[in-house]
Amino acid sequence: MKEGVIYRIAGPVVVAKGIKPRMYDVCRVGNEKLMGEVIQIDGDKIVIQVYEDTSGIKPGEPVTNTGEPLKVELGPGMLGSIYDGIQRPLPVLIKQMGEFIKRGVDAPGLDQTKKWDFKATAKVGDSVKPGNSIGEVEENEGVPHKILIPPTESGKIVEIKSGSFTVNDVVGKLDNGYELKLKHNWPVKFARPAGKKLNPEIPLITGQRVFDALFPLAKGGVAAIPGPFGAGKTVSQQQLAKWSDADIIVYIGCGERGNEMTEVLTEFPELTDPKSGKPLMNRTVLIANTSNMPVAAREASIYTGVTIAEYYRDMGYSVAVMADSTSRWAEAMREISSRLEEMPGEEGYPAYLSTRLAQFYERAGRVIPLGTDKEGSVSIIGAVSPPGGDFSEPVTQNTLRVTKCFWALDAKLAQRRHFPSINWLTSYSLYLETLKDYYAKNVAPDWHDLVSEIMTILQEEERLMEIVQLVGSDALPERQQLTLQVARLIREVLLQQNAFHDIDTFCDLKKTYEIMKAILQFSKLSNVALDNGMRVKDILDTKAKDRLGEVKFIKEYEKLLGDLSKEMEKELTN
Ligand SMILES: Nc1ncnc2c1ncn2[C@@H]1O[C@H](COP(=O)(O)OP(=O)(O)OP(=O)(O)O)[C@@H](O)[C@H]1O
Ligand SMILES: [Mg+2]
Repeated sequence: MKEGVIYRIAGPVVVAKGIKPRMYDVCRVGNEKLMGEVIQIDGDKIVIQVYEDTSGIKPGEPVTNTGEPLKVELGPGMLGSIYDGIQRPLPVLIKQMGEFIKRGVDAPGLDQTKKWDFKATAKVGDSVKPGNSIGEVEENEGVPHKILIPPTESGKIVEIKSGSFTVNDVVGKLDNGYELKLKHNWPVKFARPAGKKLNPEIPLITGQRVFDALFPLAKGGVAAIPGPFGAGKTVSQQQLAKWSDADIIVYIGCGERGNEMTEVLTEFPELTDPKSGKPLMNRTVLIANTSNMPVAAREASIYTGVTIAEYYRDMGYSVAVMADSTSRWAEAMREISSRLEEMPGEEGYPAYLSTRLAQFYERAGRVIPLGTDKEGSVSIIGAVSPPGGDFSEPVTQNTLRVTKCFWALDAKLAQRRHFPSINWLTSYSLYLETLKDYYAKNVAPDWHDLVSEIMTILQEEERLMEIVQLVGSDALPERQQLTLQVARLIREVLLQQNAFHDIDTFCDLKKTYEIMKAILQFSKLSNVALDNGMRVKDILDTKAKDRLGEVKFIKEYEKLLGDLSKEMEKELTN
């Protein structure tokens, strides 16, 4: 390790001289050995972005090159962990030095002393390739953790044993001398290679009606949640983390306020997984890089998160990554870029903003990982916080280009307390078509027809509302007045969903389907009633219609829905 010196400091950007690193090598900066990464080499001037607070360091202090890129430790023990942006376990950091995290502290991502019960499945003499599983430990109750041959290794096993091991113990050896351990390291900026890419044909079921029905996300897909201040980005992300049917959740709190992250940190450990009944944290990794933490580490937190996600994907899990908010990451890029005195692009963001965003979202996918025939997936859901809620700004626009699901939050809806405040007219999902078969086979053959009908009514409502604003709703023909009422039912019963209600917080596909069906049944019956001379006023008086909303808040909803359906029929056909 050769030593150089600090030459210049500008916020998180430090220029050093006297070392000869490669791009992206990790360096230790200053007397306190702050962690940083080489981001530019300009002759003998080495530009390092430092992931820790640089206040107080001075020119002349030493800089050493570790000769390695930023890596994460991948192995058992990550689930249930809470990390900072560079995979240091926050509870360990806090224990070591109190609430004020000091600088230059090394804390490995994995517990180095914990022993895991390793059951080898590979045998001496086996030829192994990247991604092959050599055995398993139980990471958390009910979550098997496969020990994989790293993507860069292969050979013949000459030694392997079961037993109780730490992540650093050698559990076996390849004929080329490579020592097999329960962990391996991986550079975060490089996507872990996968085998075959699969089509996004399976939905990531979120338990949120507006997503599952109107704007579904596929496993391995990418979605953006743009929304102005307070529109519900964080609540939506947290709902997805809690309820979506991914096996593993990686939640990245990137540059958001500390108290928002505190909610996550205190609330998540108390939640139970609806599928397994076990603690939700058993399948969750939290990465917290709040607004008071160093700006440069925001980028690291994004890459750390997605690398951990790929690692679990390689074991054959479906993983969902939430990043809240990618705008804070983009702002960090802008800050670093301006310190580098680069030519600014749109609104001061660097020209490479779009490439960086694309590279991040491209790490999503549904694949057959290397060395196995079981599929795995990484889905990415990124929140975007456009200033002033203006979606034409560069981060939203560049995100839009690479994501296939656009869940646009709307301040007006949030003000009206319509939650989740997803605007159904501006949002879209390009997965609607590819997921059609799944819904037809697994929920109901007419699922897609119902969804189309619902969308048509909502669009019709939009058109009619323009007229209503001019002349009032009484001037509309009765049939159109009825349409407005059906649309209202759709909004209030189907689309609105209370994240804070014990039962409404999660809605399975069957229930979503039954709700859509009941609303459309009302629509159909009342239109026929209108044909038969019933007045719209009397149609709207039907009691059964008014009670549809109750269905959301009860668990055994089938009986109520059945009764309401019969009543509706009676009220509207007499
Ligand atoms: N699905 C929901 N159900 C009920 N209430 C909700 C829902 N979504 C959002 N809210 C309400 O809106 C408030 C703001 O939501 P949230 O904190 O998610 O906004 P945000 O977009 O993340 O804001 P910021 O820009 O400040 O990060 C919440 O505290 C909650 O009261
Ligand atoms: Mg938020």
